[in-house]
Formats: sequence, C-alpha cells, structure tokens
Amino acid sequence: TAPAYRTLDGKAPLIIAHRGASGLRPEHTLEAYQLAIDQGADYIESDVVLTKDQVLVCRHEPMLSGTTNVAELPQFAGRKTTKMVDGVAYEDWFASDFTLAEIKMLRAKQAMADRSQQYNGQFLIPTFQEVIDLAKAQSTAKGRVIGVYPETKHPTFHEQLGLPLTDKLLAALTAAGWNSKEAPVYVQSFEVGNLRVLHQKSPLKLVQLLDADDVDATGNLVMKAPYAQPYDFVVAGDARTFLDLTSDAGLDFVKTYAVGIGPWKPYVQPYTPDKKLPATSLIERAHQRGLFVHAYTFRDESRYLLKEYNNDPKAEYQNFYALGLDGVFTDYTATAVAAKQP
Ligand code: G3P
Ligand code: CA
Repeated sequence: TAPAYRTLDGKAPLIIAHRGASGLRPEHTLEAYQLAIDQGADYIESDVVLTKDQVLVCRHEPMLSGTTNVAELPQFAGRKTTKMVDGVAYEDWFASDFTLAEIKMLRAKQAMADRSQQYNGQFLIPTFQEVIDLAKAQSTAKGRVIGVYPETKHPTFHEQLGLPLTDKLLAALTAAGWNSKEAPVYVQSFEVGNLRVLHQKSPLKLVQLLDADDVDATGNLVMKAPYAQPYDFVVAGDARTFLDLTSDAGLDFVKTYAVGIGPWKPYVQPYTPDKKLPATSLIERAHQRGLFVHAYTFRDESRYLLKEYNNDPKAEYQNFYALGLDGVFTDYTATAVAAKQP
C-alpha cells in the first residue's frame, strides 16, 4: 500500500512548536513550551542566545526589550547599548551584557500587539538546559518522544563578542546524551558557515534555514551575507555573488553538511504570489537528495496565511501536507495537529 504521506520517510509531518505555543503564550517560556507539548507537538523550537556568563537562554534575538519587561526595570536603566548585529545597529538591552541571574529578574511579554497580553510579566526566561529537562520529563510523562529543535541565533555576532554560542550548544546537548544522529534533536541556523562548523564537530542532524528576505530583484532566492559565510561561492566581479540554495547546485551543497532545509513557506508551495519563484519542485528536488523540508512559519491569524488558502489555516496545512512537506514550524500546535485529520 502507498504510504499515507509523501514525506521523505513516509511518516506524518513533524509538528514543530515554533517558540512554543507562541500564539497563545509569550514566546520562549516554559509555559509556552508546555502548552505546545500538551497540544501534541513533536519538537520544541528554541532560538538560543548566550548570556554574559555564557549560559544559553531562549530568545528569538539577543535584544531583550521586544519580548521582556527589561525597559520597565529601573536597575537596568543604564544598561542600554548600541551594537551591530549582522550589519545592523540596534540600541537595546542585550542578553550578552546580562548574567543569567539578571536574566532571571526579567519577565516575558507578548511580542505581537494583536495577541493576548494577559500573561505579560508572569513568566521567566528559560535556559536551554531547562528546555532539555522539560523535553525529557515530558517524553516520560506522555509516553512519546518530544525532541528539541534549537536555532543558533546570530552565531557570528556572538563569536565577535567572544561568546562561544555553538560550543555551548554542543556541550549542553552532549551532557544530555544527545550528541548523535539518533538523538531527538535538530539544530538549525540561517548561517551556512555555522552549520558547516557544526558538521565538522558533531554528528547531529543539521537544518539549513532559508530566509524570507533572501530574494533578489529578479525573484531568485539568494543567501546574503553573513548567512552565506564562508563565502565559498563569491566570484570577484560576478554579479551572482551568492549561491541560490534552492537551486540544484545549492541543494547539492547543503547536502554536504545538512540533512534538511527549513525554508520560508512560500518557497515550497506550488507557486508564489508573484509567480517568480520556481518552487514547484523544491520538495521533490530536496527529497531526491535525501533532504527533508521543514517550512516556517504557520500561524492562525489571517494576515500570515497565504492568500490561496482563503483565510483557512486548516486548508493551508493540508495543502502543504499534501505536497509532501516533512514538518511545519507552527505558532499554533493544536491547529497543525488537527489538520492531520481529514
Ligand atoms: O526556525 C524557523 C524559523 O523560526 C525561522 O525564523 O525568525 O522565527 O527564528 P525565526
Ligand atoms: Ca527560529
């Protein structure tokens, strides 16, 4: 009999809780992760950054004001600085200037204005170790495997500050007994160079993210600096400075260090709204190379839905599942799980 799904392994698509159940709780809190697990998530997605005392904490960015109450706390009033992050200057409070003890004085807040603010000021900022502990405890409690899906956020920025983000992540996973291909772990990054370093250092399953912004004026997908580091494909005087990682050559290259790609979801639908991206066969071409495809970001709110799906999140999931997508990064785990049923 034919497999029920056209995924690479024939199994149901993975439900990856993007920043936890971040549609319903402040993102990257233990409460958001727990709710996603309760709703049936297979993996907990944690973006990780490093504190001044080199502890991995879960935040989408090293800047703290967007997702915490740091700006309201008088003891930190003098801690605002300006730093360059991947070529852009930010004036903010940075995790890299805070010890873990100070980070634990902060409370999370909802980053999006049109989502519920009712939990603001209640939840702590978790360490990545707490996420590992939660996944292990909940795997036992639920009787099913719940894995972790960390993303190294701005590794080059961290390295420039002397903060070893990648090595700390490997150390945490190794201490958990999870530094193997079989471990319930995927490590993702936008930075090619970071994933290639990880590939040299460990057997972990690595996922190359493809950014929503990396489309050039002609509609070609390109990887821009610093994500394209270490610039293997820079050719002096060549207008095509960067490799399109969704091209055949790009996928062949990704295959040398990763086991999957994590594209922005319009790249994997049959056509894109502007009809420019030749996305029809991205999943097939990835699968031909043994690469799986986990796309982001699936959300219930209509402004995030692709117009083709007529404001119906379930229809959006089911169309992507039918294409053979191997996993979804979702802010709304319950919706993604429910959509697996006809
Ligand atoms: O990791 C997949 C997706 O999370 C990438 O985008 O910005 O939400 O980390 P972002
Ligand atoms: Ca992420």
